[in-house]
Amino acid sequence: MVESQNSDKFEMLNILKVVLIILSLLLVYNYHKSPPIVVRIQHPKFTLLGPYNTTEYEVDDVYDQLIDIKNFTFKVNPQPCTGYTYGLLLVVIVASKPNNFDKRTIIRETWGRSTDSTKVVFLLGDPGNLTLARKIDNESLTYGDIVQGNFIDAYRNMTYKHVMGLKWVAYHCPTAKYILKTDDDVLVNSHELRKFLGRELSPWGAQDLITCSVLRHAIVQRSSSSKWMVSEAEYTGKYYPTYCAGWAVLYSQDVIPRLLTVAQNIPYFWIDDVHITGVAAEKIMVDRTPLLSLILSSRRVKLLTSMGPEYAGQFLFGPPDLSTDKITEIWKAIPE
Ligand SMILES: *[C@@H]1O[C@H](CO)[C@@H](O)[C@H](O)[C@H]1NC(C)=O
Ligand SMILES: *[C@@H]1O[C@H](CO)[C@@H](O)[C@H](O)[C@H]1NC(C)=O
Ligand SMILES: *[C@@H]1O[C@H](CO)[C@@H](O)[C@H](O)[C@H]1NC(C)=O
Ligand SMILES: *[C@@H]1O[C@H](CO)[C@@H](O)[C@H](O)[C@H]1NC(C)=O
Ligand SMILES: *[C@@H]1O[C@H](CO)[C@@H](O)[C@H](O)[C@H]1NC(C)=O
Repeated sequence: MVESQNSDKFEMLNILKVVLIILSLLLVYNYHKSPPIVVRIQHPKFTLLGPYNTTEYEVDDVYDQLIDIKNFTFKVNPQPCTGYTYGLLLVVIVASKPNNFDKRTIIRETWGRSTDSTKVVFLLGDPGNLTLARKIDNESLTYGDIVQGNFIDAYRNMTYKHVMGLKWVAYHCPTAKYILKTDDDVLVNSHELRKFLGRELSPWGAQDLITCSVLRHAIVQRSSSSKWMVSEAEYTGKYYPTYCAGWAVLYSQDVIPRLLTVAQNIPYFWIDDVHITGVAAEKIMVDRTPLLSLILSSRRVKLLTSMGPEYAGQFLFGPPDLSTDKITEIWKAIPE
């Protein structure tokens, strides 16, 4: 009797051991299978909106003025945002050079396809060349996604372009919850971005949001060999204020008219990201939230295209200075 009880116990223990081993194997397997749970934005400085928050803001701005240009007009002014009763999740404004026809084509064919929740427009100035101007008119008639201002398109005029983008959003796309300002040599992971905005942020939008690759204590370049050379007359300080790398900045709608008002009234400075996401953002007292690993580095581009998306990790946008071929290659490598 005693003996048989002991052997029963022994058997039970063995069964328990096997069950435990199976359970722990399952745990290990599951851990590796499911994506890790991470807090992707730490210490957010913005607030998320719910269904009852209003997102209408007053625009305090002179429509015909662009900083010191008193007779500003939109030469081309499409209205892709009208007719959406519940607003759009996202509008992407892409700074583009008049001559970059191929870059715009590739963006339209890859990450920049407009959907019912997302619209993409390109920001251009006046090319100052009739041949180019005609080609752009034709492009605009075909695609309806060119926003063009009457200032000369030039490198040192890029702040006009960015502020024109803010003006266009404030007047002509005020129902978009989020605004991404980017350049025509960047890859945007639009599938992931829509999920991020709708699920990790809020489908109803946010308040006080400026998020990007944050630059702190950047030194003002004084050497004439630098592409970013700035004279004492243009900018007096030794350092720039904290600002966003201008090739990908995500704003919430409320920030746009506030930045516009300030940017219109401070002296023109040609480095647009410093001017708008640094100087103007400080004046409206909105903190810049770093996106950290949600920004794809060049190193991760290699992992992504050679080994697959699971090796690169999740990201919202890619590095700047990409060729059209690279944009196509990365786009093909990322899952829907
Ligand atoms: C959003 O609305 C809720 C409920 O009315 C309110 O408690 C909250 O403070 C509002 N949030 C913002 C950012 O306005
Ligand atoms: C705008 O004003 C500037 C200077 O006042 C002038 O040179 C330019 O021709 C004007 N442009 C238009 C489109 O009226
Ligand atoms: C205008 O642009 C075209 C196409 O880029 C170029 O071939 C031409 O030389 C330009 N004309 C002027 C006057 O700059
Ligand atoms: C106008 O656009 C169409 C469609 O993109 C293109 O096929 C055509 O060659 C363009 N014409 C000119 C003059 O650029
Ligand atoms: C910038 O645009 C203004 C307005 O069109 C123009 O007067 C100026 O020459 C442009 N700047 C450059 C560097 O071309």
